[in-house]
Amino acid sequence: MSIEGKLAARVGPILADGTPIRDLIDLDKREVSFRVMYDPEIYRLELERIFAREWLPLGHESEIPEPGDFITRNMGEDPVIVSRSRDGEIAISLNVCAHRGMRICRADFGNAETFKCPYHGWVYDGGSGRLRGAPFEQEMYGQDWDKSQFGLPQARVATRLGVIFGSFGANTPPLDEYLGEMGWYLDRFFGTEKPEFKAAGAPYRFRVASNWKLGAEQAMGDAYHVKTLHESARQLGFSPGDDARSLGLDAVKVAVPEGYLVGLDRSFSAEYNKELTDGGAIERYGDPADWSHVIAGLYPTALLTGVAVPVEGGRTHQVLFGAFDPCGPGAMQLNYLSVLASDAPEAVRAQAAKMDGLIMGVINTDDSEVYPDAQRAAGGAVGQKQTLKYNAVAEPFTPEGWPGPGTVYAGFTRDDTQWMFWLRWLESMTTEG
Ligand code: FES
Ligand SMILES: [Fe+2]
Repeated sequence: MSIEGKLAARVGPILADGTPIRDLIDLDKREVSFRVMYDPEIYRLELERIFAREWLPLGHESEIPEPGDFITRNMGEDPVIVSRSRDGEIAISLNVCAHRGMRICRADFGNAETFKCPYHGWVYDGGSGRLRGAPFEQEMYGQDWDKSQFGLPQARVATRLGVIFGSFGANTPPLDEYLGEMGWYLDRFFGTEKPEFKAAGAPYRFRVASNWKLGAEQAMGDAYHVKTLHESARQLGFSPGDDARSLGLDAVKVAVPEGYLVGLDRSFSAEYNKELTDGGAIERYGDPADWSHVIAGLYPTALLTGVAVPVEGGRTHQVLFGAFDPCGPGAMQLNYLSVLASDAPEAVRAQAAKMDGLIMGVINTDDSEVYPDAQRAAGGAVGQKQTLKYNAVAEPFTPEGWPGPGTVYAGFTRDDTQWMFWLRWLESMTTEG
């Protein structure tokens, strides 16, 4: 049975006005109700059924190399502390005091053996989240206080190629199984061999007044908007031309069966890189490990961009991780972490700095103009009855010699991988337990 057929048979939760979640997505017309962008009831369901279940990429191991190192991140709206314990293991603790709910650690990163809550002073172990003690412990709680009852909830932790993932889902499959064939592409971006990748600094973050899905669905392969919205980047010389291939509209996109998506393209600054690396001609639709530009969306919220900085020995030297943290139905925080190969040549580092400037300064600025306008429209009495359209359908086409798994769409980009995002969303939202 097709994915659409399976989903059509599901009932799923019914919203307060009697609308089943399933009815918000028209599987035949490939349209999505604008209501998914602003309805607080849908948002609450997303926090439970997506953000408290799925594996979410939170950072890079090189951000916390030493015992006691920590970073603070979010899983949905739940703040967490990602820390390295004395024995070198990574732990993810809910950053919410068991006493009265204060955020325990308010620093973005640092090194600490313990965390002391700023409100009444309860103290937690940095690695395990166990409660160690409290001020006036005897006077407050007596001799027999069982501190083991008040530790911080722990998320599951897994890493793949240095990327730290967390999940609060007890029944979510192990990470490698969860990633499925997407794992093949992740291995390809980073390479499974040394050298190691290292975070170039703290993540770049900013907040936008729009639902997280306006960012996430674009990250799943919307190359179509590049020609119009990002025209300024082309004018600045970051694209070798104005044709579909140079702009990344003629590319390869891949959807993998698990529903984790990768929109891959190569393009954009291929010429630029050729100059940089003095490389030869790059074969059309070659091996993704050789591409000069990769964009991959990883359900639910991650955007991985191997930005135009590869190719010495056919290997990516920089990856930019993006993630869209939900902050209520009408806001999100965008996070971008730049990760560089430890042996990246100086020219590549300089290029990486430049491309980060492009992504942060030009491309994200363009995108962040669109999201809030679409968000406002979704709240209008008439606007909310409109739909998002994914009607441009491509037939899968696998170029000869393509080395990777998944359903491959080579050629002019259409809506297919983005539509897969909505199928996967509907699957999460209609899954009980
Ligand atoms: S809220 Fe943390 S000690 Fe009271
Ligand atoms: Fe964009």
